[in-house]
This record gives sequence, structure tokens and C-alpha cells, in this order.
Amino acid sequence: MTVIVYSSKSGSSRKYAESLGARVGLSVYAVGEQPSDERIVFFGWLRKDEVVGVRDVDRSKIIAVGVVGLDTQGRFNSRAVSDRNDLKVPLYYLRGWIDKSKLNPLDKGVLLAVAVMMKLQGLNEFNTPIFNAMRQGGSFYDEKYLDPIETFIKSME
Ligand SMILES: Cc1cc2nc3c(=O)[nH]c(=O)nc-3n(C[C@H](O)[C@H](O)[C@H](O)COP(=O)(O)O)c2cc1C
Repeated sequence: MTVIVYSSKSGSSRKYAESLGARVGLSVYAVGEQPSDERIVFFGWLRKDEVVGVRDVDRSKIIAVGVVGLDTQGRFNSRAVSDRNDLKVPLYYLRGWIDKSKLNPLDKGVLLAVAVMMKLQGLNEFNTPIFNAMRQGGSFYDEKYLDPIETFIKSME
């Protein structure tokens, strides 16, 4: 059997995991609470190139990873994220949300650094909404991002 496991700070990765679970009829667990023998579709949020939480699960069990971030799909660097997290399975990128009230001071600092870097590289019509969400909070959540993962899971059955 396959289960869905998530790591989520402000709730968007959790919501994607739960929606996918409902769509395909698989059980959903917070990271650390999953049964040990099942194959895993993992959802984790992106912090720089790190998929938070993925290191806490048995890699050999992971069959696909949903990477949740704020950036556009086109800017998602799948190769860098695979390398950084030592993942050799398909990655699917989904856009989430940011809720600053859920972040600790360290996360807020990292987020500020990312935003400053974006500003230095130049803001334009594409990255300004992302920059604004990083500064004030905002959502790009859309369940259409689950479609390819749903197809993948159904192809495994
Ligand atoms: C400290 C920090 C660093 C982040 N770095 C990135 C990043 O490099 N690229 C990106 O697309 N999103 C980045 N994000 C945005 C989160 O990945 C995004 O808000 C995600 O939806 C959060 O998932 P959650 O709601 O499950 O916690 C960062 C957020 C935080 C708090």
C-alpha cells in the first residue's frame, strides 16, 4: 500500500496532502506518524532548496515528492532540489501559501533574506506577487497542481 505523508508549517502542504488523500483514497499522516512498511508520497514545503521534513522519512520508501513553494512552476529548479535533498524519484511542484503568524523568527529571517535577494535581482510583473506574499503573506494554492500527482498514483495501481 501507499500512504501520503506531509510536513507543513503554515498548512498548505497539509491541505494538498489531505486533498490528494481524499481524491485517491489513501491515508494521510503527519511526518513521524506514518506506518513503517508502506510506500510514501511525501509532501513538504520548500525552504531555499530544502524540502523540509523529507530527511525524517525512510528514503527507500518514497515514490514521489510534492514540493510546495511560493515561486512559479517555471522557476522551480527540480534538478537543484533533487540534488540538495538526495531524491531520485519524480518531483511535482505545487504553489502554496504563506502565513507569517505561523513562522518563527528564524524562518522569518530566512524568508526576508530570500525576498531581499529577489529584490536585488530585480522585481517584475511575474515575481512581484511572490515578493509581496513573502513580505505580507498570501496564497497561490490551487488544487489543479494535484492533477499530475493523481495521475502518477493511479498509474502505479
Ligand atoms: C524560511 C522560508 C523559506 C522559504 N523559501 C522558499 C523558496 O526558496 N522558494 C519558494 O518557492 N518558497 C519558499 N518559501 C515559501 C514556502 O515554501 C511556502 O510558503 C509553502 O507554501 C509553505 O508550506 P506550508 O504552508 O505547508 O508550511 C519559504 C518560506 C519560508 C518560511
